[in-house]
Amino acid sequence: MRHVIAIDGPAASGKSTVSRQLARRLGFVYVNSGTMYRAITWEVLRQGANAHAPEEVAAALARADVTCGFDADNESFIHINKKAPGAALRDSQVNDHVSLVSAVPEVRRVVCDRLRLLARDRDVVMEGRDIGSIVFPGTPFKFYLDASPEIRRRRRAAEGQSDAIDARDKMDATRKAAPLKIAGDARVVDTSHLTLEGVVDAILGILRPLGIPSQ
Ligand code: DC
Repeated sequence: MRHVIAIDGPAASGKSTVSRQLARRLGFVYVNSGTMYRAITWEVLRQGANAHAPEEVAAALARADVTCGFDADNESFIHINKKAPGAALRDSQVNDHVSLVSAVPEVRRVVCDRLRLLARDRDVVMEGRDIGSIVFPGTPFKFYLDASPEIRRRRRAAEGQSDAIDARDKMDATRKAAPLKIAGDARVVDTSHLTLEGVVDAILGILRPLGIPSQ
């Protein structure tokens, strides 16, 4: 396994923009684990399964062919039954059900295995909720991005998305399997009043003395 930079945190804490930019500055690949949970949620709903019934979710997952990898531009992808779910991943239906689906242990197992495979022979910046605590507990490079609830709500609204982030965060933090939490050895970065560049520079400043130079 190569280097894994884990970027965890609640919804709209700035993880995606920061992680993507960080990966570019480091010459690492970027992996968004939330996309995988969203893709599986989309498939569970497409099959008409009841997202409130864990056994129905697990059965729908077992019927789906889930493939992950990197395309020619080193962008990670997830295909369900050989198709990319695309923009549907941000549908309000997916937003409303993804916390339920991602709380199902079978779903977490499949995604966790895929994430570990993706990092097997590449240096990655991976964002999510449990990357530092469960998926790669051994990585010394763990960050937890946070921002005030008000600022996070405003960020989502500015993206034009209908997303009940408070409800999602509550469910993600209180579920039994791999809840959202700050890994004991993670560095917490409050992004509330920082620009994107400010957050990325702060993280790069921590990584440099740890032997991870930016390009
Ligand atoms: O990062 P995001 O908002 O796109 O993630 C969508 C949902 O996926 C999030 O509400 C909870 C789940 N998720 C998770 O349980 N574990 C992860 N590592 C990433 C996302």
